[in-house]
Amino acid sequence: MNVVMIGSGYVGLVSGACFAEFGANVICVDKDESKINALLNGVIPIYEPGLDDLVKRNINAGRLNFSLQLEAAVSQADLVFIAVGTPTRRGDGHADLKYVYAAAEEIAAYLNGYTVIVDKSTVPVGTAREVRRIVRKANPDADFDVASNPEFLREGSAIGDFMRPDRVVLGVESDRAETMLRELYRPLNLIEAPIHVTNLESAEIIKYASNAFLATKISFINEMSQLCEKVGADVHSVAKGMGLDGRIGKKFLHAGPGYGGSCFPKDTLALIRIAQEHGVSSRIVEAVVEVNASQKAKMVSKIRQALGGSEADKTIAVLGLTFKPETDDMRDSPSLAILPALADKGAIIKAHDPEGVEEARHILPESIQYMDSIEEAVKDSDAIVLMTEWNQYRGMNLDKIKNMMKGKVFVDLRNVYEKDLMQAHGFEYTCVGR
Ligand SMILES: NC(=O)c1ccc[n+]([C@@H]2O[C@H](COP(=O)([O-])OP(=O)(O)OC[C@H]3O[C@@H](n4cnc5c(N)ncnc54)[C@H](O)[C@@H]3O)[C@@H](O)[C@H]2O)c1
Repeated sequence: MNVVMIGSGYVGLVSGACFAEFGANVICVDKDESKINALLNGVIPIYEPGLDDLVKRNINAGRLNFSLQLEAAVSQADLVFIAVGTPTRRGDGHADLKYVYAAAEEIAAYLNGYTVIVDKSTVPVGTAREVRRIVRKANPDADFDVASNPEFLREGSAIGDFMRPDRVVLGVESDRAETMLRELYRPLNLIEAPIHVTNLESAEIIKYASNAFLATKISFINEMSQLCEKVGADVHSVAKGMGLDGRIGKKFLHAGPGYGGSCFPKDTLALIRIAQEHGVSSRIVEAVVEVNASQKAKMVSKIRQALGGSEADKTIAVLGLTFKPETDDMRDSPSLAILPALADKGAIIKAHDPEGVEEARHILPESIQYMDSIEEAVKDSDAIVLMTEWNQYRGMNLDKIKNMMKGKVFVDLRNVYEKDLMQAHGFEYTCVGR
């Protein structure tokens, strides 16, 4: 099968490489010339574990290619996936669909023979139908169907998630499109991955509802963490006790600095807007968003309190900037809310992150200093703030770190360490909800 991926970002590149691994002939297209040139030169523009090898293997096998040329790619395609960004539209929280609609318009002219146009981007309900309208208008004679195939991969474990998904959701409106998509995903039959076939609207809602539900679990446990702090309970133990109930499940019950990343913040906002537009209330999701914002603000107060009431002129070593480990993605990371608030009040921030620094430099305040090693960051600091639970922050030599500091405050926003251990090493240790 010939597959074209429009958009070669976190989702397009991983999905394209994985489809090639399944045996399809894949061309990943992007508007960003530097991205395509990098890929053509064997350079992977994002950090995603295992992607390098997967891409190389499939290029060498002749199944994966990259191009700026839409016409040549689309005219050969059986399936064209739209995997462009759908960021929050400035001002109103709605998903900005301009990239999706532009892609639909651009591919319309080059369709050649029956083609399935598949939305892989996370898009509001009704988008697939609008894509169909746009393509039909631009090319009235085209032979095509639209479909919705939302993506559930997680950055940091994207390849494993794509190759061994909990489910594949296919929103279709014709048997022909369903057959093509089932054929593309056929290698997953071996591991009996559930293929859930539904209509376009349901597929579009499944993606937003899933993300909003996961965000709800996070905001819920974060709210519980505040109660735990007040009454002397341990949120870690509370989450474990809750999660052992099969109806609840243990995943996504980790208290921390609030959710971030390229999906949950924008998708919760978009879902609220979609509901509003259809005259439906979404009070739960609204509360989830509110709790998340207040959780980030509470982390600033927590750090301030740990520093004796003021961060002015205090040197803070920040370990981790990305919204989670094993990615370089800085989009909506909690650090983007917490660090500027501290810097604003005069904190001197020395930050370290294994992969996020390059992007962080563009979006965090200029006053923030970036260090090449954990040791450089913590040297002479008044406090350490563990912001992202990268593996290398889990196994630090605590005595060495403590001796390098000027102060002894350790604020663990990911509950990586145990209080007794940290106190035994001489730290004044604060964490979340314990
Ligand atoms: N990142 C994730 O973990 C994740 C997971 C599931 C779903 N999603 C969804 O997938 C979609 C893509 O997300 P992403 O993180 O990969 O975004 P991204 O910003 O990393 O990549 C999007 C790419 O599309 C390109 N592009 C935009 N318009 C184009 C056009 N007309 N033609 C060719 N290329 C074009 C951009 O240059 C960019 O490289 C979003 O809707 C997102 O919500 C993301």
